[in-house]
Amino acid sequence: MKLEAVKRIGVAAAYKGAGVLLSRFGRVEQIREKGRNDLVTEADTGAERVVIETIRRAFPDHGILAEESGQDGGGADGPCWIIDPLDGTTNYAHRLGIFSISLAFSLEGEVQVGIVLDPFRGELFSAVCGRGACLNSRPVQVSNAARVAESLLVTGFPYNVGAVLDPVMTRFSNCLKAAQGMRRLGSAALDLCYVACGRFDGFWESYLKPWDTAAGVLILREAGGRATDFADHPYNGRQSLHLLATNGRIHQEMVSLLSAEESK
Ligand code: IPD
Ligand code: CA
Ligand code: CA
Repeated sequence: MKLEAVKRIGVAAAYKGAGVLLSRFGRVEQIREKGRNDLVTEADTGAERVVIETIRRAFPDHGILAEESGQDGGGADGPCWIIDPLDGTTNYAHRLGIFSISLAFSLEGEVQVGIVLDPFRGELFSAVCGRGACLNSRPVQVSNAARVAESLLVTGFPYNVGAVLDPVMTRFSNCLKAAQGMRRLGSAALDLCYVACGRFDGFWESYLKPWDTAAGVLILREAGGRATDFADHPYNGRQSLHLLATNGRIHQEMVSLLSAEESK
């Protein structure tokens, strides 16, 4: 399979989705709760529709796993697209311009191509397995920060935060005390890309879904970063409950901050 051709179609699909998101930004009429705090708008479903149409036209036999419409075709090992048409729906619904479209292409269960598009800033992050990561066709690399004390970290809070508040707050407090600074942007795909290009040094979050992380984790790894769970086992988007993504250099220090039972 020619991965550059796959990437070209993925990028075209992402820009189609971006057109839908930008045209409806600030004008959403229907906001529905899928679960507590977990929103879906007509922009999520409209962007997902045009993304899938573009991919299907080029690759009618590929499987699709999309956040709003679920799995359609494709076995575990076959070619499959993993799609989040709008990562950052809460921001979007509040007219906050921090959101993205995330598309990954996987073969035999391994992500081969990752694309994350920030329509608001015109930033396209992409990676092909084994060929490095780019921001708008310029190669990107993770930062050189060697200690958490000189790091800017980012995190996210799961929608079920009420049920897991204690460990979430313990980890948050441990990292807040240790880091130079801490942010919460609201788009996990962008969080991963910002670690990939060195704006952040580390990111962690729990209970993310495959469509939140598939593209961003490949982009991060291709930029020289490291993605594991909190016990330092390689991150697997379909199985791991927790994600720690860093520049590699601060990884062990972050593992010990996140795995600590008691607040330090
Ligand atoms: C969410 C965003 C957010 C993260 C949530 C995700 P959505 O995705 O990535 O940053 O904290 O856990 O579910 O619902 O906007 O596609
Ligand atoms: Ca998402
Ligand atoms: Ca989404």
